[in-house]
Amino acid sequence: MSSFNQESVLSVHHWTDTLFSFTTTRDPSFRFRNGEFTMIGLKVGERPLLRAYSVASANYEDRLEFFSIKVPDGPLTSRLQHLKEGDEIIVSRKATGTLVIDNLEDGRNLYLIGTGTGLAPFLSVIKDPETYDRFEKVVLLHGCRHVAELAYGEMITEHLPNDELIGELVRNQLIYYPTVTRDPFRNRGRITDLMSSGKLYSDAGLAPLEAAHDRVMICGSPALVQDTRTLLLGKGFSEGNHGEPGQFVLEKAFAER
Ligand code: A2P
Repeated sequence: MSSFNQESVLSVHHWTDTLFSFTTTRDPSFRFRNGEFTMIGLKVGERPLLRAYSVASANYEDRLEFFSIKVPDGPLTSRLQHLKEGDEIIVSRKATGTLVIDNLEDGRNLYLIGTGTGLAPFLSVIKDPETYDRFEKVVLLHGCRHVAELAYGEMITEHLPNDELIGELVRNQLIYYPTVTRDPFRNRGRITDLMSSGKLYSDAGLAPLEAAHDRVMICGSPALVQDTRTLLLGKGFSEGNHGEPGQFVLEKAFAER
């Protein structure tokens, strides 16, 4: 049996010149945990051209969603960005990744720190009822250079709070904090700086981050991941992984080279 499923594209949404999302059918046999990634791609000639993508939809939804950058000369994304409804795409039957709540110790508040398309795994995590069962508040931080890149803002603030399954949990427990560094906006600055200065906590009405109570997931550029990791280790947080749950977990956002 092949290790890939063929899925059809159901919709495509272009956020900016450099960012787009698409949804596909989902083979019912494809199982994943919210926050995981899988390999997806296209057949180029006889060979599949594949890259890792976080699944941005939740594991109870009947379609799959992916959030992607467009790299003009990127082998896959230069092709993927032209996807249209009805096109075929290859999706691995397996998913994996560290950004799952099972890799975190119990705690009070869960911070989800994503920059750019690093938001994708958290879109899945914030739709999971278990996330709200495990943590009192779920704080989703999305950092981008420009306001137009704050994809999914409306889905998070308008649609999710009215969702039949998780609307009430989202209304009571989710705090969404988008921030940009290169445009005027209500929240400005790098996530790491907003944490270090304490502005994030006063803006969001939260107690400052503490290893004893808080848990963190990080997904973004290598520099963001590295700097946030250093910041957390400095505060005494322990890093978790598959074998051993910890107080934070991280993954580099998958960017096409
Ligand atoms: P900045 O504009 O100051 O570089 P990118 O598109 O480069 O991945 O960046 C996405 C967002 O993450 C931008 O707002 C960027 O801020 C911010 N960022 C980049 N590197 C870091 C870092 N090392 N720590 C915190 N934020 C970062």
